Amino acid sequence: MNKVYAAFRSVGSYIPKNILTNEDLEKMVDTSDEWITKRTGIKTRYIADKDESTSDLGAKAAKKAIKRASLKIDDIDMIICATISPDYLCMPSTACMIAKKLGISNRPSFDISAACSGFIYALAMAKSFIESRMAKNVLIIGSEKLSAIVDWSDRSTCVLFGDGAGAAVVGATKNRDEAIIDINISADGNYYDYLITPGCGSSKPCSEESLKEHACYIKMKGNETFKVAVKTLTTDVKKLLQKNDIDTKRVDYFIPHQANYRILSAVSQALKLKESQVVVTVSKYGNTSSASIPMAINDLYEEGKLKPNDLMLLDAFGGGFTWGSALVPFSPLI
Ligand code: UT7
Repeated sequence: MNKVYAAFRSVGSYIPKNILTNEDLEKMVDTSDEWITKRTGIKTRYIADKDESTSDLGAKAAKKAIKRASLKIDDIDMIICATISPDYLCMPSTACMIAKKLGISNRPSFDISAACSGFIYALAMAKSFIESRMAKNVLIIGSEKLSAIVDWSDRSTCVLFGDGAGAAVVGATKNRDEAIIDINISADGNYYDYLITPGCGSSKPCSEESLKEHACYIKMKGNETFKVAVKTLTTDVKKLLQKNDIDTKRVDYFIPHQANYRILSAVSQALKLKESQVVVTVSKYGNTSSASIPMAINDLYEEGKLKPNDLMLLDAFGGGFTWGSALVPFSPLI
């Protein structure tokens, strides 16, 4: 039997309409535009409406991706949603909610929890399901309403995050030139408490006490996370490039997870990438966790910069700790 490969066919994103600037945050907590800009590169982020959920954002991004893949809703045979801000804490999955909103039923739909690395994890799963012939067209989504799990009284985290969604269709192909070249995903649970929502799970169930302690919100050991992120990402991406014998000169776009401009610029410098190769959206959107990479790819696409056969190098790092990198040609069906 001929081998089947997985191709990255299309992308879409959705950005909520409410903008939150650094100046707005100055009125909410003891911070300044100067501190946020210097330490993170973030200027603005977008916040979903009260009645907009993570699946609403995800479904809107997904619709665009499906249309751009020239597929009908019925052609999608699997939905994987990466999120740390699901519509419902335990069930149903946000992927099931997205499926309902898209009018897709009788298809496997599930969430994965890999924090900011979620999109690359979802891409790896889509690739595996396609290569094993269990699926032909997998819809992958990174969608986050982080404003719902941010502690708006904690200046060390609330200035960092934003809401948004990105989606992609990964499809089967027999043409190896179109195929995703390689993906690496990994994790180290020894760092579980560096980036954590400590409350309202089974280890500390929701209670008056956990609510009082703001334990259901994101807590981060920022500086320690920063250091591990830079080191791990640099090593991980170098390994992926070496394994596939690909020089950074061949990479058209380096699209890292957008947590902090200082992290992505340190990694880009260590990889000796040119500024023109590095995609930066953190200034506009802040850190949108699993959504940041597909949102960045979508911006490139909508700006007319992403062309068929362009080689994308993706990388991400997040809570868990989890991390991953991927070498992905853009292979739309033309
Ligand atoms: O997306 C998943 C992975 N996430 C990341 O990789 C994020 C990693 N971490 C970071 O991006 C950075 O560590 C932060 C942006 C979170 C923080 O930057 P930093 O340069 O590591 O600052 P810091 O935490 O060491 O804090 C420096 C100072 C502290 O004051 P003192 O102790 O020096 O007096 C903080 O209290 O900055 C203070 N600070 C703030 N000041 C004004 C912390 N947050 C703020 C704030 N405004 N919002």
